Amino acid sequence: MTATPLPELALPLVVLSGAGLSAASGVPTFRGAGGLWEGQRVEDVATPGAWSRDPDRVRRFYAARRDGVARVRPNPGHAALVRLQRALGREAVMLVTQNVDGLLQRAAEEVPGPPVEVLEMHGTLWAVRCERSERHPRRAVEPGGDHRAAWMCAACGAALRPDIVWFGEMPRHMDRIAAALARCRTFLSVGTSGLVYPAAGFVALARQAGARCVEVNPEPTRGPFHVALAEGAEVALPRLVDAWLADR
Ligand code: APR
Repeated sequence: MTATPLPELALPLVVLSGAGLSAASGVPTFRGAGGLWEGQRVEDVATPGAWSRDPDRVRRFYAARRDGVARVRPNPGHAALVRLQRALGREAVMLVTQNVDGLLQRAAEEVPGPPVEVLEMHGTLWAVRCERSERHPRRAVEPGGDHRAAWMCAACGAALRPDIVWFGEMPRHMDRIAAALARCRTFLSVGTSGLVYPAAGFVALARQAGARCVEVNPEPTRGPFHVALAEGAEVALPRLVDAWLADR
């Protein structure tokens, strides 16, 4: 139990999650010991250059990540965020994630209720897309399914690449996120080291807009948060969401 009193909720709220949200499910974070990048050079697997040099290596890297995520389950942290958006509505609670694992959506599928909207800034493991145009139709990749080298874009015949936003590419939904940050009254950052921009800059934008800024991270970062709950997301979020919904 932390001694830090729970912060109050003023709406609208923007939640930014990172790899730490899925840590309790068993998905490795990027920068921790045994993390995803340990022993792996980002430039070899997660950049457009890596894809053009060695697409098979990139396909193998993402196939291994899909296999890893297919074996785990969402944790109470994911379920709490789903519950919060369903209770207060998508206008009041924007869920933004840097994670590509789809575990927030899976948590939503596990409990019947209205659809949940998750803005996946860095794309998803569960689709591939045309390497020439983001506008061409995507193709789903099922758990246990393979992303075959022979797959081609239905619109133009180009190769299909992972639907991931790689280093050097533009994260998705930035217009909507920037607008929400400019008007939010609470900003909640969960399980992110705050090292990768533009997401790392969200707390400063929210703070400038006058939002109360809250962090959930067992190893609090030095970001400009008003309140830091030094606990795992799987413990802190159910408690925080219970408290926030009890007030309403
Ligand atoms: N609950 C909450 N936070 C946790 C937990 C937990 N149970 N376990 C670890 N953490 C925290 C760590 O203390 C760390 O601050 O999660 C954070 C994970 O940080 P990173 O591994 O850097 O992951 P993230 O911030 O999501 O990375 C951002 O970098 O490599 C890219 O594209 C990749 O989306 C990723 C981006």
